[in-house]
Amino acid sequence: MSGKISIAIDGPASAGKSTVAKILAKDLGYIYVDTGAMYRAITYASLEQQVDPSDEQKLSELVRQLTISFKQGTDGQLVFLGDRDITEAIRQPNVTNLVSQVSAHKEIRLELVRRQRQLATSGGVVMDGRDIGTAVLPQAEVKIFLVASVDERAERRYKENIAKGIMTDYESLKAEIEARDYKDSTRENSPLVQAEDAIRLDTTGLSINEVVTSIKNIIKNKVK
Ligand code: CDP
Ligand code: CDP
Repeated sequence: MSGKISIAIDGPASAGKSTVAKILAKDLGYIYVDTGAMYRAITYASLEQQVDPSDEQKLSELVRQLTISFKQGTDGQLVFLGDRDITEAIRQPNVTNLVSQVSAHKEIRLELVRRQRQLATSGGVVMDGRDIGTAVLPQAEVKIFLVASVDERAERRYKENIAKGIMTDYESLKAEIEARDYKDSTRENSPLVQAEDAIRLDTTGLSINEVVTSIKNIIKNKVK
């Protein structure tokens, strides 16, 4: 492949976006940008500073004061708020349950999209989220819309939690995923929707390796 490209990976919760995006970025020598982590970081800060999640103006003032960055750790990418490692904290249920409300605000999205584009300016980027192919990087050479049945997505999260020693109930995980998908898909500002030129990949029943191989084939066919 000649020259570095941008790869956009969108899709609903727990479809495997970040897992495959990280592998692709590593194999291609590209940077990986986890845009969901940025919305989660803001949600985390809003909880910490007790900012009302429905108050768009207060939230935008807060966002402007926040520095969110990614650093490479020994076990993968770490998320920092200022000089604090918030990688684990942003995955907790209090953040997960609120993030779709915070991310629905127009001003918040404008600011984060601006920062996400900045992170991608040097090219050679794999970015995952909900609006990468439609709003953040509409010129991306490769756009993937990753889906899987809600049962399988809940099952994957359930197994992930068990592996981490977190006890969760499958039905509540599934309900949380469905509620978040609904909010993300029906919001007014850049909702979760497949870009017209994105390739839809149904990963139900597919292993991580099979998904990565399919995407690499798509990249090969698109960029010759
Ligand atoms: O990994 P998971 O599917 O749980 O979610 P995430 O990618 O960490 O994203 C968390 C939330 O951030 C989503 O449910 C959306 O509300 C929001 N988000 C967004 O609005 N736009 C993006 N580009 C990425 C995430
Ligand atoms: O980023 P997103 O929310 O779309 O999903 P993820 O965090 O990458 O993946 C959710 C879980 O599904 C992780 O534990 C992955 O290891 C797992 N997974 C899987 O079992 N099979 C796949 N084909 C993709 C992901």
